[in-house]
Amino acid sequence: MLSLLKSLLSRSTSNTRIQAQQLLRDNSEDDAYTVPTRVLYPFQWNWDSCFTSLGWVTFDEDRAWAEIASLLKGQCRSGKIPHIIFHKDSESYFPGPDIWQYDNPEMKTSGISQPPVLATTVRMTYERCKNKEQALSFINSIMPKIFAYHRWWHERRDPHNTGLVATYHPWETGRDNSVEWDEPIKAVPLDDLQPYVRQDLATINPAYRPTNEDYDYYVALLQLFKTHKYDQIKLYEISPFKVADIGINSILARANSDLLYMMTLCDSSEEDRQTVLNWLDMQAKAFEGFWNSDRGVYQSINLITGEKLDFVTSGSFLSLWSGLIPFESASIMASTLENMCHATKVLVPSLSADDAKYDRYRYWRGPVWAIINFMIYDGLKIYDQKLLADQIFNTTRTAIKTYGFKEYYDPVSGEGLGGDNFSWTAAMWLYWLDKK
Ligand code: DGY
Repeated sequence: MLSLLKSLLSRSTSNTRIQAQQLLRDNSEDDAYTVPTRVLYPFQWNWDSCFTSLGWVTFDEDRAWAEIASLLKGQCRSGKIPHIIFHKDSESYFPGPDIWQYDNPEMKTSGISQPPVLATTVRMTYERCKNKEQALSFINSIMPKIFAYHRWWHERRDPHNTGLVATYHPWETGRDNSVEWDEPIKAVPLDDLQPYVRQDLATINPAYRPTNEDYDYYVALLQLFKTHKYDQIKLYEISPFKVADIGINSILARANSDLLYMMTLCDSSEEDRQTVLNWLDMQAKAFEGFWNSDRGVYQSINLITGEKLDFVTSGSFLSLWSGLIPFESASIMASTLENMCHATKVLVPSLSADDAKYDRYRYWRGPVWAIINFMIYDGLKIYDQKLLADQIFNTTRTAIKTYGFKEYYDPVSGEGLGGDNFSWTAAMWLYWLDKK
């Protein structure tokens, strides 16, 4: 009886694996890049692709590296890797390249970036792949590009060397409508807002998406950037929305450590290695500024007012993934996380259920995201918080197994929400959760 049960379980696990692999193949374009989901997001997204390469490496190493190569085709001369690469035309997404009008001679792209997980996912892809020789030769060829990308963040988004890099747009944080941005975004003037039409609401329940008010601000910011020709240093001075996102800063710190590790495998110069060490050193010193001892978490900072954005979000726990924080703070945060999850079946809600703004269905204001869970899980492991890490692993796994590869999940029921057949959720299954 027990062996029958075991064989049924392992058969259903391998079925989910086959479905996840098929999903990535179905979302693949030209054998080169993966759309996050068809219709809603029909192009290549920066951090989506990085996480998706982790899924590919489990069954097709060449395709994993092709994903990264395609992403880098959109890299700007300044080093920035844009958040969207418009390899082909599509009418089903707003705002497309004609709205961005971003002058990138390499490729049609958006004009902002996204959380810089690239160096970390390249390292993870390398560690999982079998053909190390081929991988190292590719990594050697892209190392200057990754270095240039990190330089872009540090020089263009932290021109005064404070150790805190700024973001000018909620879309850049990847956590678009997180409550953290509600107050700072109000400083964006809406007087000159040009009319626009959203496309996302044609396919997704509006109750699961950012509101029209949120979109007004997103589009007004885009229009402002266009007026200033996306001049990053100028925008550092004048952007009405300027935030040190705990997510981006944690992800960049971790990526700097992983870049440094890969530099030891490649032909990087001592001078470049020293530069990365200096960035990390600056970040380590600045990180304490994110800490809120009353709440027991790290929090984003509004760089215009200097105030902390006082919420407990899943972004707060990305500080664990940075590897930069003291063990003592990590253990305080583990308790904060446990308290935050008391009413949830699936960890980790994107906003504490105790918060008045919590909404279990609406995008980054409550729902659970597999990629965020993966980073928090990995971060908890760094700090020996194994029980909590396992709880995240198990509840994420059950939600995906029950409801399929959705964009995000209701923390209360576990039900899948948002876009269907979502690439990074399938990739997280293959790379992280496909274990039992
Ligand atoms: C969107 O369009 O919803 C994206 O999150 C922006 O990248």
